[in-house]
Amino acid sequence: MECFRILGPTRLHGEVTASGAKNAALPALAASLLAEGPLELSGLPAVRDIRTMRQLLGHLGVDSEEDGPSLRLRAGNQARSDDAPYELVKTMRASILVLGPLLARLGHARVSLPGGCAIGVRPIDQHLAGLEALGAEVELEHGYVSARARRLTGGSFRFHVPTVTGTENLLMAACLAKGTTVLDNCAREPEIRELATLLGKMGARIQGAGTERIEIEGVESLNAATHRVIPDRIEIGTYLIGAAMTGGEIFIRGAASADLAPLLEKLAESGCDLSISDSGLGLSRPTELKPRDILTAPHPGFPTDLQAQYMALMTQASGQATICETVFENRFQHVPELARMGADIHIHGTFAHVHGPTALSGARVMATDLRASACLVLAAIAAAGETIVGRIYHLDRGYERMELKLQQLGARVERLAAEPTRATTTP
Ligand code: EPU
Repeated sequence: MECFRILGPTRLHGEVTASGAKNAALPALAASLLAEGPLELSGLPAVRDIRTMRQLLGHLGVDSEEDGPSLRLRAGNQARSDDAPYELVKTMRASILVLGPLLARLGHARVSLPGGCAIGVRPIDQHLAGLEALGAEVELEHGYVSARARRLTGGSFRFHVPTVTGTENLLMAACLAKGTTVLDNCAREPEIRELATLLGKMGARIQGAGTERIEIEGVESLNAATHRVIPDRIEIGTYLIGAAMTGGEIFIRGAASADLAPLLEKLAESGCDLSISDSGLGLSRPTELKPRDILTAPHPGFPTDLQAQYMALMTQASGQATICETVFENRFQHVPELARMGADIHIHGTFAHVHGPTALSGARVMATDLRASACLVLAAIAAAGETIVGRIYHLDRGYERMELKLQQLGARVERLAAEPTRATTTP
């Protein structure tokens, strides 16, 4: 199994370019199922989840071909299948994003239930209740969701919890429903606003995306469109935290600040200097790092997808920081791994108390999920000595060319084909 070997400590410095957002690209790809003409997407990150979604769409009858920096997707009028099988869905929960579009376009869909994952149970009850509110008949059997509706009809639905992919699924389904749909307590993540922008280019009539209430006036068909995926706010946040953690100085070309406000505020309060321009975001940390508490919450709150990386940062702050995770029930799996590197962190329910600053030391650690892996990589860059981060297939799901970008910033990171049997080098 591939791993990263990292020699630290290193101060991150230099410039990198932001990649396209995985979590905006996945629903954009799923939206290709809705279009009668080709969808041309650019800015897709070269990460495993995008390859998995392309494979799933191929299975469902969407032909995709690369055209320079763009991907052209054509669903055609005849689907090859309405069935998203377990083998593909189990490797990527976001596969559930094909449910709404398939049902809206074909009138039937069969998608494997994604099941739980490392960070929590992650039910999809709200996706299903929402589709039922639009007239679908939904059945769960043999680990699959089967949904049918001759044509979905507009309706009202209030989400019990704001769910990102749930909102995206309903948004896509409602575009082809007969009549108007009103969705309340919607997730407000920038990726939803972006999906609505793409659907709008395809001919959908949507108002309010990015707010709690979205209104969709159904249309008869959706057409060809061209769209560029937004920069990845979580990737950008990860590298900013890396520079803050190591007392470094970096510039991320193509990074936008608007969607990262909750992180940028904390970084500024903890002593970092930020520079925001049209071309990107810069950060340097000239002084001691101050501890600052965070509470994760749906957008515009502090993103749960940056919680683990922020915890690594707080191990370097002088004093105690409290981190409260409110979105997922099991998203502290990086804590025992950080503790192996010397971090002083105590968990009480949904709270983690981090006492810093700690002189981290390199160790063998194991990635458990995508963002926990990124946290361990950052900790390893700040730590003295050699760290082996195992199971980096998690990282490859969502970070494009991570070791190359980190090398560009001066980090000593290499990808090994297999985990060494024992530590190889003392720096
Ligand atoms: N929830 C329900 N019922 C539902 C749906 C969600 O109870 O039907 C609960 C979940 O269990 C969770 C909360 O609602 O406690 C929020 O989950 P949400 O549905 O918003 O998560 P998601 O759509 O499955 C997306 C991102 C995640 C990100 C979360 C939260 C994509 C493809 N994935 O997941 O990204 O953590 O929103 O912002 O957009 C990642 O990139 O590492 C990642 C995990």
